[in-house]
Amino acid sequence: MQANDKLWGGRFTLPMDKFTEEFTASIAFDQKLYRYDIEGSIAHCKMLAKQGIIAESERDTILAGLQAILADIEAGNFTFSVDLEDVHMNIEKRLIERVGAVGGKLHTARSRNDQVALDIRLYTRDAIAQIVELIRDLQRALLEQAEAHQTAIMPGYTHLQTAQPVLLAHHLLAYFEMFDRDAARFSETATRVNVLPLGVGALAGTTFPIDREFVAQELGFAGVSKNSLDTVSDRDALLEVCAHASILMMHLSRLSEEFILWSTSEYRFIRISDAYCTGSSIMPQKRNPDVSELVRGKTGRVYGNLMSLLTVMKGLPLAYNKDMQEDKEPLFDTVETVKGSLKIYADMLRTATFNTQRMRAVAGDGFSTATDIADYLVRKNLPFRDAHEVVGKIVALAEAENKALDELTLGQMQALSTLIESDIFNCITVEKSVASRKAFGGTSGEAVAAQLATIRSRHEFAQ
Ligand code: ARG
Repeated sequence: MQANDKLWGGRFTLPMDKFTEEFTASIAFDQKLYRYDIEGSIAHCKMLAKQGIIAESERDTILAGLQAILADIEAGNFTFSVDLEDVHMNIEKRLIERVGAVGGKLHTARSRNDQVALDIRLYTRDAIAQIVELIRDLQRALLEQAEAHQTAIMPGYTHLQTAQPVLLAHHLLAYFEMFDRDAARFSETATRVNVLPLGVGALAGTTFPIDREFVAQELGFAGVSKNSLDTVSDRDALLEVCAHASILMMHLSRLSEEFILWSTSEYRFIRISDAYCTGSSIMPQKRNPDVSELVRGKTGRVYGNLMSLLTVMKGLPLAYNKDMQEDKEPLFDTVETVKGSLKIYADMLRTATFNTQRMRAVAGDGFSTATDIADYLVRKNLPFRDAHEVVGKIVALAEAENKALDELTLGQMQALSTLIESDIFNCITVEKSVASRKAFGGTSGEAVAAQLATIRSRHEFAQ
């Protein structure tokens, strides 16, 4: 009986200090990787037999043991224990208990360093696929609302001051574009993730005649990593996921900010369904947009996870360092947070109602068609800078008289520019303002309808 009965205990004389055991263990969070760990072990084991490194009968015994362990875990009949440190050793120890000493052959030509690199890659590959699908669904929800509001006009803002009227559909499609870039970023990372790390041993490679291409094929990887030192110490894929997640959450946070503003009694642009609001324990009238606030808040934690991971990695010499065990919680937390936020936003968006009357009623506030008067003067051959000056005076006059632009008389406007004729009144309605922004990428009904059609012609968004 060894004084230290760990799987690695051979050279130790004292047992591990109890608290150190807990402090260094990752099982509390890496047990989440069990399926990937077993999947990787199965592929590795098949390869060992194919290469004659273990016997076929040994392979069959080990595979049966691994399948039984997988079934036990899924059925809730497996207790992970802290003294076995991590998911890899919990499973390996159980395998040996189940199938006997032959189970100890599974770890031939493998290290926990390349094993954990494999597990997190498999996890990340799945997580990316799920995130991209959730982004697509949120984009579909935006698309549906945009299609349902193709004529609704709302105020567009800069500096949160009324700027120019826009279509609600155009505003919603702005978010569609942001999420489109997010999906593209995640998908691009997926190609870099899809490279097999297993087979590089602890850091220097392995002395056994392994077939890494075979393992890559078994696990659906497109290729194998090229440098053993890099492979066991590379966490770029996780960093990319955390970075893309931060940008995605920033987009969701901006949408949240708008939903929160838009649901105030001052704006009244949107009514978020009861299903996604909470009340106040004291103020009976309250309907708080908690989901939007929480998503805005969770953005901070996703940024924090990116910072954690970057900081964990920044001083690490090659190759594996135990610091890297700290990669998992930020990654898992980021993936869960992003998935939850995307899902709830798609549902909330589909059930939200837009108060298009209210939006239309305030779309002309703040002299929002002033640029249209300037453009009118430019079409009459006045240089834009001069037109800007004239319209500035028209706005000042309207403001002084407490009138909207279209409430000024023709005479009042002509006093400021003789180029103005009665047709001016046709171009300063909010409808006309929106409709005339026909150039590609603009808010006119035609331009927005063309965008919607283009989007619907993509296979992800086909009906
Ligand atoms: N639990 C470890 C981790 O998450 C697995 C790799 C451990 N390797 C080692 N040499 N201690 O990073």
